[in-house]
Amino acid sequence: MNKNLNMLDETSQLILHRTPREDIQKGITILDKGEGVHLIDKEGKRYLDMEAGITRPVHVGYGRREIARAAFDQLCQLHYVTPCGFANQPAMDLAELLAQITPGKINRFTFECSGSEAVDSAMKLAKHCHYYRGNKASFKVISRKGAYHGVNGYGIRALGTVMPMRQIMEPVAPGAVFVESPYCYRCPFGLVYPHCDLKCARDIERTIEFENPELITAFIGEPVMQGFGALAPPAEYWTIVRDICDRYGILLIIDEVICGFGRTGKMFAIEHFGIQPDLLTMAKGITSGYVPLGAVGCTHEVMEPIENFFHLHTYGNHPVACAAALKNIDIMQQEGLIQNAHEMGQYFLAGLKTFEQHPIVGEARGTGLWLALDFTSDKKSRAPFPLDRLNHMIARARQLGVLFKIMGGAIEFAPPLIITKKDIDEALAVLDQCITEEEKEMGF
Ligand SMILES: Cc1ncc(COP(=O)(O)O)c(C=O)c1O
Repeated sequence: MNKNLNMLDETSQLILHRTPREDIQKGITILDKGEGVHLIDKEGKRYLDMEAGITRPVHVGYGRREIARAAFDQLCQLHYVTPCGFANQPAMDLAELLAQITPGKINRFTFECSGSEAVDSAMKLAKHCHYYRGNKASFKVISRKGAYHGVNGYGIRALGTVMPMRQIMEPVAPGAVFVESPYCYRCPFGLVYPHCDLKCARDIERTIEFENPELITAFIGEPVMQGFGALAPPAEYWTIVRDICDRYGILLIIDEVICGFGRTGKMFAIEHFGIQPDLLTMAKGITSGYVPLGAVGCTHEVMEPIENFFHLHTYGNHPVACAAALKNIDIMQQEGLIQNAHEMGQYFLAGLKTFEQHPIVGEARGTGLWLALDFTSDKKSRAPFPLDRLNHMIARARQLGVLFKIMGGAIEFAPPLIITKKDIDEALAVLDQCITEEEKEMGF
């Protein structure tokens, strides 16, 4: 009988993630089909998807039969291989390819089912490395306030201020240490770049001294942050962090779960900053969401001391997911999608910059095809913007057939990397209309 429903409601047996009961009572849209950059729901309504599946994995767009075929072929040949004591060819091929395209000296890889698992495994690898080197005491991980690193044990420990996801699960495993984020538009220290001398980065050293360097395993951070809406740090930020980690023997985990595979106009976002990570986490764009896959990469120096990685997921190094990833990355390379992300990102950002004239728009920013409009109810003081007003704007856009997302006090944009100027123009026009109508209602 479920099949006849066009909307999910409270009578459904399905539990949704992070969806308020109030929304379920109103009815939840059932998405039914995808074509290129468009989604179509069960009632036949078509949406321009400016968030690549809302959680942003869909880099190559919807309906790619080549990926389905690659997965199908592997399913027929050998659908499962244990990651413990045995290997499989697609996983080995994917590791070899990643060794070529990931930054710096990252050249060893293991595969999981999600970004959260990749983050957990990265932290476990970092801990194993310290342990086998003889530092058995280290257990603390430094993360930034406002960061997001997933929903599993270690990831939740390293969540910055994404509440209540963290709050409800507290107490979490000990060892979480938080530092401020490089959020220049609303600097946590009240300073102004470049006169701030990058206090947000330099202050990490004081935190390390306070926490005892011997006890710190790793620093984890997204090269461009999700938390406040597509937030790129100042150019020197990661060089300073890298230098501090090196001086204290702390491993640097760069979390590329969102940024990786072209989202920011380079294969990996850390390439914008010219530093080398010790460990790298990936997911989302690695398969464009066609099948679940997360990955961790690390350098020879991290892996070398580890006699045995005491870790086992039944679905680790999954051959079908790896076969799909290989085809997905091949499509991105063949179709020049990373270059498209760079070019379309610049075009999109130029359009968004003109919106800074709106009285409620504080800042337009973006790196490649990861962009945001940060809103404010007072341009001078940069006061936060009411969340219900943001919700109202994106609901209006959805009615008009365009999907956006809220992140912090911003509206965020992360479309599939196949997006065209025509699609961006359509999104900008709808956005402009929604902002203008909201401003009128607010009396601006
Ligand atoms: C930076 C970062 N790390 C980890 C995760 C968790 O990934 P997943 O949702 O696949 O578990 C996310 C998800 O958005 C993320 O943005």
